[in-house]
Amino acid sequence: MRNPEIVDKMSTFFTALAVALLLQAFASAAPPDISNVVLTPGRTESEQNFVWQTHGKSVAEAVVQIALKSDMTGADFPEDKALTFTGKSADFEDGFASHKVTVSGLATSTGYTYRLGIGPTGEWSDVYEFSTRVREAYTVLLIGDAQIGAKNIDQDTAGLRDTLDKALQKAPDAAFILSAGDQVNTGSSRDEYDGLLSLPHFKSLPFVPTIGNHDNHELFSYHFNVPNESLAHGKTPAGGNYYFVYGNTLFVVINSNSRNFDQHAAFIRDAVKKHGQSRWKIAMMHHSIYGSDIPRSATIELRENLYTVFDKYGMDIVLSGHDHIYVRTHFMRKNQVVHPLEKFPARSTPPIEIPAGAVIKPKATLYLAAASSSGSKYYDPASQSFYYLAERLAPYVPMFSQINITNTSLEIISYRTDTMAAADSFAMVKTGEKGLHPLLIITLIGGGSAAVLIAIRLRMR
Ligand SMILES: [Fe+2]
Repeated sequence: MRNPEIVDKMSTFFTALAVALLLQAFASAAPPDISNVVLTPGRTESEQNFVWQTHGKSVAEAVVQIALKSDMTGADFPEDKALTFTGKSADFEDGFASHKVTVSGLATSTGYTYRLGIGPTGEWSDVYEFSTRVREAYTVLLIGDAQIGAKNIDQDTAGLRDTLDKALQKAPDAAFILSAGDQVNTGSSRDEYDGLLSLPHFKSLPFVPTIGNHDNHELFSYHFNVPNESLAHGKTPAGGNYYFVYGNTLFVVINSNSRNFDQHAAFIRDAVKKHGQSRWKIAMMHHSIYGSDIPRSATIELRENLYTVFDKYGMDIVLSGHDHIYVRTHFMRKNQVVHPLEKFPARSTPPIEIPAGAVIKPKATLYLAAASSSGSKYYDPASQSFYYLAERLAPYVPMFSQINITNTSLEIISYRTDTMAAADSFAMVKTGEKGLHPLLIITLIGGGSAAVLIAIRLRMR
């Protein structure tokens, strides 16, 4: 005869067991507690920086394991062939921790696979991939003012996703993404960072962030792992100036929320001193000093204090955002327009390929302000024109730019994402020691007088 009490107890026991097994199965199937994985550049192209976050875990150290993609068997991480790198972890708020690691010794033009250590018990993240690029000739992407959350986090993130997808269709081998600041709308909003960094692109394509006026909060420093960061130059709550070298180019990223111009000048001087042999020197800062609108006092202050620095240290291009309107200036020096002297005939024969319409770069700086990349916010352009404007575009659709860099030429093609038409394009050729030999210039121009060429040589750097 069955005892109802025993039956009842057994039923309760098996129900509890089933629930426990279900929870265990769910726990083992749940994704690891990891978020906001972002690649940022290392100090040179042979390094790769990583940053990610965990929640509610006590993590003693940050660990990245990396291996050649060619060593993978199917989707399995090749643990026995991986190298392990460790870094630093820091708690920041509400149980969140930020983890930063630098991997070194990367080869050029190589596919890698990696995973992130996320706990003291040997837990690992999913497996991700990235590829290094050829250093002598490569493409980077430029976006401006994604400002996630200015309209709506989900909509703005979808807008940026669409822009990045389209940019990578144009430039699938891009080496990294330059972002000219205002990545989020409210610098203290983890939700906005979560939206921005939910995009999968940043797990495989390094992201180069700039501190915008909307980003000026310490959360910036917990979400990005920037190289050569200076805590003595351009420091605000979000972080300081930083720089890196990629192949033939020095990239200097300035925190223009800091108005300590002596510090900015010293930082650029030191970076150029260390890497003066770089073929190209590109600066990036959020506020445009030659913008789309009537300059306000803050812009005039920035312009008057910084154009002399960019002149002095030979910046080829200064990239900015902030205006949400696309602007390309003429070449500028001493706050005046410098017109290039000569155009090159296009040439598509390696090793020297010259984009159509390329001009010989004079000893001067080109300023370029990116438009909104997400569509989160647009501004109307001023009705006035300004002496420095070569192009100003306010299409009220997201835009991005593709920058193709070789030892000889630098080409910028800027697209509107609704039609994917090239809304603006510009190319320059740099001559000199590692660039075009004067005799080749004569050959290319063909028929140009020696006197003109000598004059060009004297004016170029
Ligand atoms: Fe801004």
